[in-house]
Amino acid sequence: MSEDVEVRLTVNGDGYRVRVEPRKTLVDALREDCNLTGTHIGCEHGVCGACTVLVDDRAVRSCLMFAYQAEGTSIRTIEGLADADGTLHPVQAAFREAHGLQCGFCTPGFVMSIVALLDENGAPTPQEVREGLSGNLCRCTGYQTILEAVDIAAATLRATSLEATR
Ligand code: FES
Ligand code: FES
Repeated sequence: MSEDVEVRLTVNGDGYRVRVEPRKTLVDALREDCNLTGTHIGCEHGVCGACTVLVDDRAVRSCLMFAYQAEGTSIRTIEGLADADGTLHPVQAAFREAHGLQCGFCTPGFVMSIVALLDENGAPTPQEVREGLSGNLCRCTGYQTILEAVDIAAATLRATSLEATR
């Protein structure tokens, strides 16, 4: 059995010092050691996207990354999206408006992927959205409303950034 290692993680701006087995995945460390259970585990081998988080602003499947590999990075999870007063992030608000979830299991992963997608490209084409989300699976097959949520969120984020430049 391997020796535990100490890992320092920065998640949603907060520092965590955890002792984990070297083989422990980031998603397990987030859920079990940081008590951040909003990130879900589906397939555990990089297929479903349920475990998507942002690592240095890039969407990453946290079941494919060891916790120790995330040391020194800035991690963002679904828990870090809403404002402190509870105001939803525009992508979360768009999911609510478009009814972009059914059971909700895939939702944190989709939301994090969309945040990264719209951060990179504020006006994606329908094809770019489909490609950007091709690594996220919804077993309830609610894809149409998820695509509508992306459109709503993109429009909100564009309006917000326009407002900020005035
Ligand atoms: S749980 Fe990580 S991709 Fe499915
Ligand atoms: S809403 Fe149920 S898995 Fe996507």
